Amino acid sequence: MNWNEALRILHPQRPEPALPVRVAPRAGALHRAHAPSICVASGKGGTGKSVVSASLAALWAEQGRALLIDADLGVGNAHLMQSVQPKLTLVDVVRGRATAAEALTVCGPRLDLLAGGSGVSQMASLSAAELSRIARGIEDLDGQYDALVVDSAAGISEQTIAFAAAADMVLIVTTSDPTAMTDAYAFLKVLFARRRDSHASLIVNRTVEVDEGPRTAGRIESVCQRFLGRGVHYLGCLPEDRAVVKSVAQRQCVINAAPQSPAAIALRELRGRIAEELNTLSHLGLGRSLEACCAGVTRRV
Ligand SMILES: Nc1ncnc2c1ncn2[C@@H]1O[C@H](COP(=O)(O)OP(=O)(O)OP(=O)(O)O)[C@@H](O)[C@H]1O
Ligand SMILES: [Mg+2]
Repeated sequence: MNWNEALRILHPQRPEPALPVRVAPRAGALHRAHAPSICVASGKGGTGKSVVSASLAALWAEQGRALLIDADLGVGNAHLMQSVQPKLTLVDVVRGRATAAEALTVCGPRLDLLAGGSGVSQMASLSAAELSRIARGIEDLDGQYDALVVDSAAGISEQTIAFAAAADMVLIVTTSDPTAMTDAYAFLKVLFARRRDSHASLIVNRTVEVDEGPRTAGRIESVCQRFLGRGVHYLGCLPEDRAVVKSVAQRQCVINAAPQSPAAIALRELRGRIAEELNTLSHLGLGRSLEACCAGVTRRV
């Protein structure tokens, strides 16, 4: 996608309705704290979303219970980095064949996965009613975890924006590649149109040069300030590291496969910064916020 295409997509005729900041509890729902939620997104495919989300989920599972949600219902592959073969997936939840709890795949003592779909192309673009079924499933699970990490699908679809808008924090994973930067900006533009107060941060992946992270983030930040009237926070970078490639080939996350590698060390530092930021944010409940988002979609149809 080039800048002109991005700008054409990014100037919608009608602005998206803002996501409500507070969501009314569902009838009968217990009042309890919600797990903080992080959505790892990018726009462009292959930037490192699954590497980052699998690592964050593994790091959270060191201190508490973590749920990794593979929100790619077309070609979900988050399970590949967990060495598991899910029997049930979110596709079964959407089709009413399983509850979200039944669809969980255990990946470790404190790490569960809600796997995405595989080769089911029509699942890549869900209706509001289907997305709502996922939202309710996540809401039912929310209280059992200390963190929910969403591994988003590539692209700017209703589904990817809904998950990002519903999360407490959005991590945009980009590289210094111009197309990845353009798509990161495009994603942010649509996200901020949907939810102006979205807490979005940038991670620059596969950096080789010392200043590549801040330089790349600075360019995206200045375009956001200029055209969107708000900034996006630079969280840090993740170096190019063969240990990541090897760990993926071994179907493991780099945190477990090579804990002392430069990438694993950088991810651990990023996790600390993310935890600090999450502490300053309200945790609205990913499932509840997603449901509110679906209601907005239904009203627009
Ligand atoms: N820091 C890194 N160093 C070296 N290689 C990396 C790094 N990060 C990612 N990669 C490589 O890029 C590949 C793609 O990463 P990943 O699957 O996380 O991307 P993605 O954004 O989830 O892709 P998709 O959009 O298809 O879901 C990995 O399999 C790995 O080989
Ligand atoms: Mg992925």
